[in-house]
Amino acid sequence: MSEILLQIDGREVKASEGMTVLDAAQSVGISIPTLCHHEKLDPYGACRICTVEVETGGRTNLVAACIFPVAQDLVVRTRSEQIDQTRKTLLELMLAHAPDAPALLELAQEYGADKDRFEKEPSFCILCGLCVRYCAEVKKANAIGFVDRGPNREINFMPEIASKECWNCKECFPLCPTSYVQAAYHLTEALAFPPPASKPASEE
Ligand code: FES
Repeated sequence: MSEILLQIDGREVKASEGMTVLDAAQSVGISIPTLCHHEKLDPYGACRICTVEVETGGRTNLVAACIFPVAQDLVVRTRSEQIDQTRKTLLELMLAHAPDAPALLELAQEYGADKDRFEKEPSFCILCGLCVRYCAEVKKANAIGFVDRGPNREINFMPEIASKECWNCKECFPLCPTSYVQAAYHLTEALAFPPPASKPASEE
């Protein structure tokens, strides 16, 4: 595999083809915040909190580090006024949906985000897709999925599948940055799980 040299925050970093800027940064201990990234899952690029600046051919662009591929001589900056401002605004938007999520509040403190800047629309989900993708890609269960589109998009457990697959799994719970997936599961369990099959009269 051919070696690629790039520069991140002024440091020369060795990477290989197929790596993303996030992989390369993490390989030398440079931290970039992430909310929708998981090492076991395909790159997704939904939350954009990993936004960094890349310089190629004399132009500077903001890109999502978790999906942007490394390239020879790429120059990357992981902090700047523009990056911090972008992350701050993204956090303020996400906090309108999940105002009490510890992962968001921690980042909000770092980037000076105001959790009350935007009108609250508490859906408690930031649509990072970690639960949906983990269930599909790692567990191959598809017990949870996205439903609806645009502003109505949300996650939903499929009761028929979840009632069989989730009770001894729940591996998506700790992945959720807002803890909404736990609430969604328990609500589905209470409202929509199929009733237990009644025993045949002979076994009663
Ligand atoms: Fe890169 Fe979410 S972590 S877009």
